[in-house]
Amino acid sequence: MRATEQRDRAARLISATEQRDRAARPSSATDQRDVGAPCANHIARRDGARRGVRLPCARVLPIDFPSPPLDDGVIALRGFDEDDVADVVRACQDPEIPRFTVVPSPYTEREARAWIETHDLLRITRMAVPFAVVDARTRALVGSIGVHDLDSRSRKGEVGYWIAREHRGRGAATRALRLISRWALGELGLGRLELLADVHNVVSQRVAERAGFVREGVLRSAREIKGTRRDMVLYARLPTDDADREPDARKSG
Ligand SMILES: CC(C)(COP(=O)(O)OP(=O)(O)OC[C@H]1O[C@@H](n2cnc3c(N)ncnc32)[C@H](O)[C@@H]1OP(=O)(O)O)[C@@H](O)C(=O)NCCC(=O)NCCS
Repeated sequence: MRATEQRDRAARLISATEQRDRAARPSSATDQRDVGAPCANHIARRDGARRGVRLPCARVLPIDFPSPPLDDGVIALRGFDEDDVADVVRACQDPEIPRFTVVPSPYTEREARAWIETHDLLRITRMAVPFAVVDARTRALVGSIGVHDLDSRSRKGEVGYWIAREHRGRGAATRALRLISRWALGELGLGRLELLADVHNVVSQRVAERAGFVREGVLRSAREIKGTRRDMVLYARLPTDDADREPDARKSG
C-alpha cells in the first residue's frame, strides 16, 4: 500500500473509530483513560438543557506500548519493526503456525512486511496491539503475541500468539501470555480478555490454563482457518482472576 493510500485509510479509520467511541463513551471512571486532553479545535455543543454549554469533546488516542516495556527477566515484549522481517518469515515456515492461526501459508517476506506495516495503524485506531516476544537478555526474536478485536464498548479483547519452533517448550508462551494479560487487564483497562484455541491444540490450551485463563466451553465452528471451520475452546481471564489463578506466578518473576 502506498504511503498516501495508507494515510487516507488511517484518516478514515480514525474518523470511524472516533464516531464509534464517542457514541459508546460511558461516564464510568475506567473509560476516562480514553479521553485526551481538551482540544481547542474540538469544542462540542450538547443538546437539550445543556445546549450552548461549550464542552471539550473526547479525543481518541493511539494505544501506546507500555513504558517501561513488559519484561519478566526472561521474556520481554516490544513492537515489531522492519528488522524482524527475516525472523518472522523463518518462524512462519513451520506448518504448526498456519495450522492453528490465521497466519497465511505460503508465507514470504511480502506477507511479513505487509503485516508489520499495519501495526501502527492498528494501535492508532485502537483495534489491536501486536508485540514481538523477545529473549530479555539477547533480544533475539522468539515469537509473536498480541491483543486484537479490541472492543471499547464492552472493554473486551482477544489474545493470539505463536512461538518459533526452536524456542518452544521452555515456557516462553506462558510467560508472554502472563505479561500481556496483566497489562491488558490492568493498564489498558480491559474487563475481559478472551483466548480461542483449536480443540486439537492441546499445547495452547495448556498455555492458557498456566497463564490463569479459565476454560468456558467449546464454541462450535467458531473460526475459519485455511478454509476449514474449526471448533474452538473458549478461555477468558478477568482482572479479578489474577490472585486466584497462576499457581506458580511467583516463579515467573
Ligand atoms: C502453542 C505454542 C505457542 C506454545 O509455545 P511454548 O513456548 O512451547 O509454550 P510453553 O513452553 O509456555 O508451554 C507449553 C506447555 O504445553 C505442554 N505441552 C507440550 N506438548 C504437549 C502435548 N503434546 N500435550 C500436552 N501438553 C503439552 C508443555 O509441557 C507445557 O506445559 P508445562 O509448562 O505445564 O510443562 C507453540 O507451540 C506454537 O507456537 N504453536 C503453533 C501456533 C499456535 O498454536 N498458536 C496458538 C494459537 S491459539
